[in-house]
Amino acid sequence: MNVTIRRGSSIRGEMAVPADKAIGHRAALCCALVEGVSEISPWPSGDDCQRTLGALQGLGVASDRLPHGIRVHGVGLSGLQPPRSDLDCGESGTTIRLAAGLLAGQPFESRLTASASLCQRPMRRIAEPLTQMGARIVGASNAELHPPLHITGRRPLRALRYSMPIASAQVKSAILLAGLSADGPTTISEPYPTRDHTERLFQRLGIDLHCEQATLTLKPPRKALHPPGRLLIPGDVSSAAFFIVAATMTPDSVLIIRDVGLNPTRSAFLTVLRRMGASLEVSVEEEAWEPRGTIRVVSAPLHGTTITAHEVPQLIDELPILMVAACAAQGATTFEGLEELRVKETDRLHSMTTGLRQLGAQITPDGQAGVKVAGGSLRGNSVESFNDHRTAMSLAVAGLIAEGETTIQGAECARKSFGEFFEVLASVRRG
Ligand code: S3P
Repeated sequence: MNVTIRRGSSIRGEMAVPADKAIGHRAALCCALVEGVSEISPWPSGDDCQRTLGALQGLGVASDRLPHGIRVHGVGLSGLQPPRSDLDCGESGTTIRLAAGLLAGQPFESRLTASASLCQRPMRRIAEPLTQMGARIVGASNAELHPPLHITGRRPLRALRYSMPIASAQVKSAILLAGLSADGPTTISEPYPTRDHTERLFQRLGIDLHCEQATLTLKPPRKALHPPGRLLIPGDVSSAAFFIVAATMTPDSVLIIRDVGLNPTRSAFLTVLRRMGASLEVSVEEEAWEPRGTIRVVSAPLHGTTITAHEVPQLIDELPILMVAACAAQGATTFEGLEELRVKETDRLHSMTTGLRQLGAQITPDGQAGVKVAGGSLRGNSVESFNDHRTAMSLAVAGLIAEGETTIQGAECARKSFGEFFEVLASVRRG
């Protein structure tokens, strides 16, 4: 599907974004491990979270659809059943990595398969610690250990003290899920803090998890876990980011985004945008479990900044749209430490620099894994999504400030995280 965006028109109105997918995956996995029934509402609409539910179904965990969410019939910490067939993770990196952590501690074998793009993504980062805990993980025989993954679980796993070489919430979460089946405490140190949704959920379930600075200690539960009741999932702040940047860059805009997740480990991009001059009012309305609230954006002129490597892990999914913001800024913006962008659904460093250059942006390499984006005007062109949802949505937002028309080829991939992205964008454009 090709979508054409024209420049002009302010962004005004109120909107909401789909439920947070990172929280959705974790909620489903945790509700599978409690003894009894839980509800998750709303349930993220895209394919990724569906893959996590599908994998759980293959392990004997039933779930049903409700008008506004799902009900999960938890089987308890020892209740997962050996799968009768492969567990297909589709394109979902979170599904395969978190499921691998869970399966490492099960007393049976399983096989996790993946679609073509996920078969190109590195799994050694999870295999390394899970193998140290005693699981056996076999993938494609290359340095990166690509899927499919054949997992021979072991229960109990060996307790692990692990210093993560890469800042990754997926790797951390895989180890924490494995740690539930370990014979002693699991201790993990992160090089930089990453999103903490797994930790918050574990604590909500009463699991003994202690966080001090960059080190986590998890004690495996000795008793059954009780259902958390109804888990309300806030809107996905990473999806809101596209609209926040769109309203900031488009003159005469005022946009209100309601019921959005405001977890501080996910909202670092708001700090960067403010540093660039954005006018954002953020009100936290509920602190419980996962903070949520409202963001009000008024358009404002932006200026360049430097995004340092230590900031990157907490704004990893917002880097593509921040590159677009950098194009609209006065002066240059430097992005440092972007190596992890290369191993997302596509190489996002390549997809974004290619697309933005085709729109006339001046982007130059800076250091080992950095780029410098010179602010300036953009002109419409035809650009590629590279089958990556965040590239497609970011380039669509770039189209709002590009002279003339911008066509995004392969725009349907936006559905991965935001089913109605283009409809919502049309609904808040004025004039
Ligand atoms: C995610 C963590 C991040 C992020 C991804 C979702 C998660 O990946 O890019 O979209 O749900 O834990 P990494 O752990 O590879 O940084």
